[in-house]
Amino acid sequence: MKITAAVVNGINEEYQLEELTLGQLYPDEVVVKMVASGICHSDEALRMGDAAHPIPAVFGHEGAGIIEKVGDAVKNFNVGDQVVMAYNYCGTCAGCRTGHPSSCEEWTTLNFTGARPDGSYIFFKADGTPVSNFFTQSSFTTYTITNKNNLIKVDPEADLRLVAPLGCGLLTGFGTVLNGLKPKTSSSFAVFGTGAVGLGALMAAKIEGASIIIAVDIHDSRLETARELGATHTINSRTENLEERIAEITEGLGVNYSVDTTGISAVMKASIDVLGIGGVSAPVAVTPNSVEFNTFMDLVLANRKLVGVLMGDAVPQLAVPQLIQYHKEGKFPFDKLVKLYKFDEINQAAADSNSGKTIKPILIIDESYRNAEPLVSNK
Ligand SMILES: NC(=O)c1ccc[n+]([C@@H]2O[C@H](COP(=O)([O-])OP(=O)(O)OC[C@H]3O[C@@H](n4cnc5c(N)ncnc54)[C@H](O)[C@@H]3O)[C@@H](O)[C@H]2O)c1
Ligand SMILES: [Zn+2]
Ligand SMILES: [Zn+2]
Repeated sequence: MKITAAVVNGINEEYQLEELTLGQLYPDEVVVKMVASGICHSDEALRMGDAAHPIPAVFGHEGAGIIEKVGDAVKNFNVGDQVVMAYNYCGTCAGCRTGHPSSCEEWTTLNFTGARPDGSYIFFKADGTPVSNFFTQSSFTTYTITNKNNLIKVDPEADLRLVAPLGCGLLTGFGTVLNGLKPKTSSSFAVFGTGAVGLGALMAAKIEGASIIIAVDIHDSRLETARELGATHTINSRTENLEERIAEITEGLGVNYSVDTTGISAVMKASIDVLGIGGVSAPVAVTPNSVEFNTFMDLVLANRKLVGVLMGDAVPQLAVPQLIQYHKEGKFPFDKLVKLYKFDEINQAAADSNSGKTIKPILIIDESYRNAEPLVSNK
């Protein structure tokens, strides 16, 4: 089957729309006709070489589409179902069986090696060169092959152009707070970086009843959005003194919880330094940078904790429908973050995300979806 995909052929090279061939469909997989895909900063981190991944590759892991073909071993999904896609997991290891699929023993193999565990590929160039997949999803394409464990069925009335990005960045932010930090009500919370992950975390902190919600960024426009979504205080760390502002807001106590989404060494350190006694911090960025701290002075002495949280430690099949429900109730207004782009504008969309102009770019891959009627929830 011939498809069109945005291929990255070298580190730091732009996405190129190319005609590829889809490989064989395995029994536990489905073919999905893509409708839309969010761009997550992790796609860009891999394109720019901030984390290693075999190239050439088709990135994209915030996709939504309609099932076109179902493998023989797939139960509960049918041709025509609307699906959002998240990551792949084995479903049988201890992590998967205890409700923590992002702790799957096979997680890296299934999501980061570019091939199936048996070494076979999903995408091929015209000359037969294999092209890596990402997350067994590779959503920057007109059609993809994905595993049944990537799939989240969504209601026929859900608009796939809006809900597409729920499978990664927003899920990560939301889950990092709910499952990683598990905040007590009326607590204080600071998020460093107000992209999709940071704002997902911020909306979750509000849902969880945080009384002080501080958003930190270097772009005033993003901080404005953070205020709209429930930040009680915002700090532009380029123009304001971060430590002084946080001390003033928390009356010198520091915050109970923090999340870093910037991956910048000094900011990650600041996200630990602003914690009060017993505070917990989650640094979640995909970053090549390290952070240096003294275990006794910076953690032990104040009973502080540092937690790593992958994909929000959430079960995507439970959390994504919950996010759609929260959105309907007005509690998770992520439509305020999105901007739609045509598929062939992918390089512009990525550039706008990197410059801070667009928080969550969504590529519309099938422009005929819903007779091309405008997306209603896109305010
Ligand atoms: N842990 C996981 O499972 C997981 C999942 C998805 C994404 N991620 C990672 O999370 C990170 C955030 O993703 P995103 O899509 O929200 O990215 P993003 O680039 O949209 O957001 C990062 C934000 O940090 C801000 N920033 C940059 N420098 C800053 C500074 N010095 N001080 C304060 N703010 C600063 C930027 O302006 C931007 O708003 C990325 O590294 C991404 O790869 C991790
Ligand atoms: Zn597993
Ligand atoms: Zn992502």
